[in-house]
Amino acid sequence: MKAYVLRSYGSPDVLELRDIDRPAPGPGEVLVRVRAASVQPADWHLMRGEPYVSRLMPGFLGLRKPKITILGADVAGVVEATGPGVTGFATGDEVYAMLAMGGGFAEYVCVPESELAPKPATLSFEEAAAVPLAAGTALLALRDQGGVRPGSRVLVNGASGGVGTFAVQLGKAYGAHVTGVCSTRNVDLVRSLGADEVIDYTKEDFTRDGQVYDVLLYIAGNRSFAECRKVLTRKGVCVMIGGAATRWLQPAGRVSAALAASAFVSQKAALTNVLACRDNRGNLDELTELIDDGRLAPVVDRVYDFGELPAAVRYQEEGHAPGKVVLRI
Ligand SMILES: NC(=O)c1ccc[n+]([C@@H]2O[C@H](COP(=O)([O-])OP(=O)(O)OC[C@H]3O[C@@H](n4cnc5c(N)ncnc54)[C@H](OP(=O)(O)O)[C@@H]3O)[C@@H](O)[C@H]2O)c1
Repeated sequence: MKAYVLRSYGSPDVLELRDIDRPAPGPGEVLVRVRAASVQPADWHLMRGEPYVSRLMPGFLGLRKPKITILGADVAGVVEATGPGVTGFATGDEVYAMLAMGGGFAEYVCVPESELAPKPATLSFEEAAAVPLAAGTALLALRDQGGVRPGSRVLVNGASGGVGTFAVQLGKAYGAHVTGVCSTRNVDLVRSLGADEVIDYTKEDFTRDGQVYDVLLYIAGNRSFAECRKVLTRKGVCVMIGGAATRWLQPAGRVSAALAASAFVSQKAALTNVLACRDNRGNLDELTELIDDGRLAPVVDRVYDFGELPAAVRYQEEGHAPGKVVLRI
């Protein structure tokens, strides 16, 4: 089968399209013929081995070379074969999944049955591949770390990107009052997703307009926790998801500093880490229900062909894709 293999850290040019052996499903595993995968910031962080500080932490980066050699955390496709003991899926089923250890930028991937879900019936493969990691992140951030309820006031800083476009819609599905922060060209998009208010960060500073929020989703930008606290209610939560990246430290440094500082004040900083989540299947089922009910829809900005993965990663890395970047395989 064809797969993009990562043998060393570097620019998108290190992604090599090669012929490798097709994997065989082991006990409890399902072999999926991948039809689409999506590209996200995690892919270029893993590809570049940045921020460098992350290479020193236990996790997904190796010190000198990549631990994960086939990137791609989101897939949608068709079941090709099942391993011993698999009872919930059969050949030909349309499925989707989030793969914490990658493997999606390939024609086939083996997925544990427990992490695979039926694809939303109303979505194409390209649309379904846009969902698992980004929507899963928004779901965990709002439901688990944010504890969002009807009437909660939620600020989504980074509302126009992969995670943000889902967060705005999910916040509305949970009955919250949602304010989205994005740049000028995405104001209409964020409003069309249901945001009650939209702040254009090129013209207004959300930390200075006098509004307060119960939950702030910190997806983008480089504001300090001290600045974010100013717009939180007394028991408000700043949910740390991501932010502007640098080679050595960010966004890991900003996230760690917020978590440490929050031990001393009434407002809390909480981390969302979708890759560490143990119930991906449950999250996907919840998302599928919202999608098939018409309450949640992926925003797909661009679809690239399989041979164009380096260009797709280069585009995603610019950091301004409205919605998701998808690979057709
Ligand atoms: N913790 C987790 O489990 C987890 C999971 C997924 C992603 N992440 C992290 O979350 C971050 C976002 O991921 P993503 O997939 O949404 O990325 P993305 O699709 O590249 O979106 C980033 C968005 O940030 C916006 N942005 C840039 N500068 C901004 C600013 N100063 N203020 C407000 N918005 C700004 C951009 O919108 P404009 O074009 O309008 O500027 C862009 O749409 C990344 O750091 C990623 O690594 C973490």
